[in-house]
Amino acid sequence: MLRVSMVLLQRQLVLCVWVCVSSALVVHSLPWSVSCPAGCVCQIKPWFSPQSFSCEVPTVDCNNLFLTQLPTPLPLDTHTLCLQSNLLSALETPLLQTLPNLTELDLSQNRFSSVRTLTSTQPQTPSLRSLLSLHMEENQLRAFSGLGSLLRLHLNNNHLTSIDPLWFTTLPCLQVLMLGGNPVEVLPERGFQALVSLRSLVLGGMGLKGLPERALEGLDSLESLSFYDNLLTTVPTQALRRLPGLKFLDLNKNRLKLGLNNMEELVAIERAAMENLPELTKLEITNNPRLSYIHPQAFFQLGRLESLMLNSNALTALHQHTVLSLPRLREVNPLTFFTFCYVTALF
Ligand SMILES: *[C@@H]1O[C@H](CO)[C@@H](O)[C@H](O)[C@H]1NC(C)=O
Repeated sequence: MLRVSMVLLQRQLVLCVWVCVSSALVVHSLPWSVSCPAGCVCQIKPWFSPQSFSCEVPTVDCNNLFLTQLPTPLPLDTHTLCLQSNLLSALETPLLQTLPNLTELDLSQNRFSSVRTLTSTQPQTPSLRSLLSLHMEENQLRAFSGLGSLLRLHLNNNHLTSIDPLWFTTLPCLQVLMLGGNPVEVLPERGFQALVSLRSLVLGGMGLKGLPERALEGLDSLESLSFYDNLLTTVPTQALRRLPGLKFLDLNKNRLKLGLNNMEELVAIERAAMENLPELTKLEITNNPRLSYIHPQAFFQLGRLESLMLNSNALTALHQHTVLSLPRLREVNPLTFFTFCYVTALF
C-alpha cells in the first residue's frame, strides 16, 4: 500500500511551527564610566552576535528620547548603539564613522525613508566597517544600498510595497533578512539573487498570494524560510525547488490547498496521513482509479479543513469519523458521502 503521508513533499518541506524562543536571560549590566550623552544610559551589557555567541560590550542606550539627531558625545568604543523609537530621519554618518567598533545599530521605529545616508559620501572613507547588525523595523524605507559586511538586516514593517533586487546587491555577507509586515504582494523574479550567504529569510505577513517561479533563485545557502501569515493557497513548490539547502519552512497561517489527483498507484490513505498540515483549508483527492480506502482518522489533525473533494476514486464508502473529525468542514464532494456519514452518525 502506498501511504500518502506527505512523502511526496517531504523532500522539500519540513513544515514546522516557528517557535520564537525568547530566552529568559539573566542580564548582568556593569557600569561603564564614560561621558554619556544626555538622557542616554551607558553600560557594559551582554550582546548576542549573529553567530549566537554572547559577550559583554559597551552599549549606549538612547531609546525613546524624541531625538531628531544623533546624541553626543558618543563614546569612542561604543559597540552597540540603541536609538529605537526616536524621530531620526537622517544620520550624520561622519559621526558614526568615528566609532571604529560599532557593531550593532538599532534604528527601529524612527522616520527613515532611506538608508543611503548610512553609506559613506566619500568613496575612499570606509563606512561602518564593523557593523554586523542593523535594525530598521518600523520606518518608512523605500531606498536601500550598501553596507558591505552586514550579517543581519531587519526591515520589518517599513511600508515597503515592492522589492528592488538592487537593494541587496551590496550585501554579499548577509545571513538573516527580515522583511515581514511589508505589503509587498508580489515578489520579483531573482530579487534575492545577490544574497548568496543568506541563511534565514522571513517573509511573514506580507499578503503574498503566490510566488514567481524564480523568486528565490540564487539563495543557495538558505536554510530557513518563513511565509507565516500570508495568502498562499498552494505550496510554492516550483520556487522552493530552487533552494538546495532548505531545512525549515513555515507555511502556517496561509490558505493552503492540497491536491492528490491522478495518481495511478494510490490505493489507500492511512491514519494521520496529513498530520503535518494543520493549516490546510482545501483537500482535493480526485481521479485516483485505485483509491478504495481512507482510514477513519486519515484527516484527524485537519482542524481548519473547509473543503474535501473525493470525486472519481474507487471509494464505495467513507467512515463517519472521517468527516465528523473535521469541525470547519463546509463542503464535501460527492455529497452522497456526506449524507451517508451523517445518517450513520445518528445511530
Ligand atoms: C576596538 O576593539 C578593539 C578590539 O576589542 C580594541 O582593542 C580597541 O581598543 C577598540 N577601539 C576603541 C576605540 O575602543
